[in-house]
Amino acid sequence: MAEIGTDIGIAKALLEEAQVVAIPTETVYGLAANALSVPAVTRIFTVKNRPQFDPLIVHVPSLARVHAYAEEVPDALRALAERFWPGPLTLLLKKRAIIPDLVTSGLDTVGIRCPDHALTRQLLETLDFPLAAPSANPFGYVSPVTPQHVNDQLGDRIPYILDGGPCRVGIESTIVGVENDQTTIYRMGGLSLEDIEQVVGPVHVQAHSSSNPKAPGQLKSHYAPGKRLILGTIEDLLQQYPAHRSALLTFQADFNSPYQFILSPAGSLTEAAQQLFTALRAFDKMPVDFILAEPVPDEGLGRAINDRLRRAAAVD
Ligand code: TXA
Ligand code: MG
Repeated sequence: MAEIGTDIGIAKALLEEAQVVAIPTETVYGLAANALSVPAVTRIFTVKNRPQFDPLIVHVPSLARVHAYAEEVPDALRALAERFWPGPLTLLLKKRAIIPDLVTSGLDTVGIRCPDHALTRQLLETLDFPLAAPSANPFGYVSPVTPQHVNDQLGDRIPYILDGGPCRVGIESTIVGVENDQTTIYRMGGLSLEDIEQVVGPVHVQAHSSSNPKAPGQLKSHYAPGKRLILGTIEDLLQQYPAHRSALLTFQADFNSPYQFILSPAGSLTEAAQQLFTALRAFDKMPVDFILAEPVPDEGLGRAINDRLRRAAAVD
């Protein structure tokens, strides 16, 4: 198992040797390595068992560092970064040559974000390179939101997990770029559409699909838990699936089932986002075959939650 601790010095020393270290962010834990080193980045793909056509996000300590890795920042994206960084926002920018093609899967854009977590920002500030980091889970599984989640699945493949406690947001960053002069969201995430539109006006939302060339990693079933998840109205689903073999995932409703997870009894989408991946992992340990899940209200962080639920339900 990996060592779990809060020692930035250990993390820094390992990263400087081109090793991979799990780091906390406000969204989910990342599997980090020197973004400018091909051997280091290669280790990320190996540890995660991730296909090389799925590009990585590069993490920087501040907006001021972006110009070293990206050609230019369009006005709308700069306005978003000024308003929401550090935070759950990834910008797609034209990359500079210093970023290896391996990081971007050969695309001419690089995803960059400044995470909002004190430990990781301190770490980034002491390093003289940025960190490439996908979510710290095996490819195709649910993202980790605690050090223990990381250790459960990748503990025997990495030397160190920097312990920053449970993730405050709990769902991955929102990915935004500019396409044909249109601000475009490629992945709904921890920064809401409403918050983004308040700064830049109406944006285009590009739906996910397994053939989306701008986000080649956004395979529909990307967040699949270990069991079949079916999305619908719980009452209807209980007519079709055997109750004793089914776990229930609800927003607020209590069905008095021994196998249920209520995302937020108080009806908070912020709390529901924090709980979602912990819920999906909890179901894996329950003696059931099906997860019957209901969508949450489709507003604010609810859009990102529903996106992950739809992808967990997808079978392709
Ligand atoms: O919140 C997050 O974004 C977390 C934390 C660790 O920062 N990271 C994360 O990374 O979710 P990952 O690799 O699990 O998801 C990043 C997604 C990839 O699936 C990829 O499709 C998309 O971002 N992406 C990265 N760079 C891209 C690029 N240049 N063009 C299009 N999509 C890109
Ligand atoms: Mg991921």
